[in-house]
Amino acid sequence: MKVLVTGGAGFIGSNFIHYILKEHPQWEVTNLDKLTYAGNLDNLRDAETEPRYHFIKGDIADRELVDGLLRHGYDAIINFAAESHVDRSILDTSPFIETNIKGTQVLLEGARQYHIERFIQVSTDEVYGSIENGSFSELSPLSPNSPYAASKAAADLLSHAYFQTYHVPVIITRSSNNFGPYQFLEKLIPLAITNALEDKPIPVYGDGLNIRDWIFVVDHCRALDIIIQKGEDGQIYNIAGGSEKTNLELVYQLLGLLNKPKSLITFVSDRPGHDRRYALNITKITERLDWKPECSFDEALSVTVDWYLGHKPWWLRIKSGEYAKYYDRIYLHR
Ligand code: NAD
Ligand code: DAU
Repeated sequence: MKVLVTGGAGFIGSNFIHYILKEHPQWEVTNLDKLTYAGNLDNLRDAETEPRYHFIKGDIADRELVDGLLRHGYDAIINFAAESHVDRSILDTSPFIETNIKGTQVLLEGARQYHIERFIQVSTDEVYGSIENGSFSELSPLSPNSPYAASKAAADLLSHAYFQTYHVPVIITRSSNNFGPYQFLEKLIPLAITNALEDKPIPVYGDGLNIRDWIFVVDHCRALDIIIQKGEDGQIYNIAGGSEKTNLELVYQLLGLLNKPKSLITFVSDRPGHDRRYALNITKITERLDWKPECSFDEALSVTVDWYLGHKPWWLRIKSGEYAKYYDRIYLHR
């Protein structure tokens, strides 16, 4: 199988490439990534010597580039490439429209022209919006609240339209919050771990009682692998870890693992439009594709903490780059 992974130098994409190269010795993987602030080739150092892995620097919204690539024949496209951070979408919506919507359209169009047999659009639970009680199924209406979530919802609708209109074999996956190795430091878990390690304040938005359902990234990669092999064209699959935590509970647990004081927590003003709770019903993927999360949250969180402890040069390099400016911009005014 010849697979085109887009956004493979980011957090989930790089974990997915490691997973696929290990699990499928016959598969060949090409990674197309623009290397934005979030793309990091350090995430894939181990793969570089692997002859079945190829890297191409480029933009998924570049039609000529994408067409030129697809001409070489791929069996599947797994689209991870995106602007992925809610706070950044609040600061500047434009790149979210360009990559998440236009970029997805260019890939879908390429898939149509070159008869790609499988197109996985990696989406998010955020497209459903917030839910106070219960959980969203794949049939729940889309109600995105942030510019990020709105751009992902638009990409989902386009993907659906390409399936209905042109029979492009699209599958949409909607996952809950991922955590694990190689996650960029702007996200809550790596931010909290690395700030705590440096005895710096950990900013908690609002009252800290917003709820997220966490999934270890390896469980997500395994779900995607099963969907590539057994998923049904035109379907949507929710993917979640079943580990709901308030942000405060999560940060307390991290501080416990790191043996750091709760006094590092600093309450800051809330994220505008902050979704209170995400929750997904995963009956469909469980019953139809026989997938369920296998990693225990507590164990996976401690594996993640150990990974950041063991990879200080990886995260120090990020902290000293463009990230420092972003960090000041986002937190100084709060
Ligand atoms: P990330 O920000 O860590 O990585 C995104 C990657 O996409 C980076 O390598 C970046 O360089 C690349 N990229 C950005 N714009 C590009 C473009 N125009 N062309 C080519 N490459 C481009 O993101 P992530 O957390 O790994 O998320 C991956 C995907 O999974 C996204 O589509 C996101 O919406 C979705 N998702 C993420 C989570 C989560 O918890 N992180 C949960 C559900 C869904
Ligand atoms: O739910 C899936 C989504 O999860 C993905 O689609 C997104 O790409 C991914 O970024 C993530 O979005 P969240 O906004 O939920 O993740 P984030 O890590 O930014 O924030 C998690 C929660 O923690 C959220 O309620 C906001 C809060 N938070 C976040 C940061 C960065 C804080 O309290 N303090 C912080 O410093």
